[in-house]
Amino acid sequence: MRDASAWSEARIANEEWLGPWEGRQPGLPDLTWQQRHTPQVFTAMLRALRREAKEGRCLPFAVTYDGDLVGQVTVANLVRGAFQSASVGYWVDGRLAGNGIVPHALALVVDHCFTDVGLHRIEANVRPENTPSRRVVEKLGFRQEGLHPRFLFIDGDWRDHLCFALTVEDVPSGVLSRLKA
Ligand SMILES: CC(C)(COP(=O)(O)OP(=O)(O)OC[C@H]1O[C@@H](n2cnc3c(N)ncnc32)[C@H](O)[C@@H]1OP(=O)(O)O)[C@@H](O)C(=O)NCCC(=O)NCCS
Repeated sequence: MRDASAWSEARIANEEWLGPWEGRQPGLPDLTWQQRHTPQVFTAMLRALRREAKEGRCLPFAVTYDGDLVGQVTVANLVRGAFQSASVGYWVDGRLAGNGIVPHALALVVDHCFTDVGLHRIEANVRPENTPSRRVVEKLGFRQEGLHPRFLFIDGDWRDHLCFALTVEDVPSGVLSRLKA
């Protein structure tokens, strides 16, 4: 809860950086970026994430750098049963982009999911034009599995996404060790 103002400051400063990649439910009230990123919105988001986490459907992580909140990695759509799969989303403050922060954060999260959490598969869905995000999954050795046409509602329209995935068999020694090799 203490991260509310840091989150709000980072999100508002990064409107152009994050806007083209952020999914948003169609039909929601037409609020400005600023209105959607107040400290109060952070509190509501955190409550919702914690509720979903308690129900076993999501694992929300804060990404910190030198002790400051600079981004998030969220494991969502977590399905158990015969699937044991989830999808990941991530962002970092553009002022810190290019330092390998998200690849390292994501590697830690994937290793956690494949060990303690017991998942079998993690997928990441990326817009074809999102070169930085494609580099993240490439660095971690995700396999490109397909193209989902009109997959997510982003920036006012349904956007195609490439699907990248890893299963636990792909990374017997973990993703972090492979990233560091
Ligand atoms: C995708 C993202 C999370 C990558 O995080 P990161 O911590 O910067 O990752 P890296 O340091 O490994 O950089 C990845 C690539 O970004 C590009 N990049 C690096 N610095 C950059 C900068 N200042 N501006 C734009 N792109 C940059 C490079 O292509 C880099 O690949 P390289 O290391 O082979 O040169 C980050 O760019 C981001 O938050 N983007 C906006 C939100 C987003 O797209 N989320 C994912 C939706 S699927």
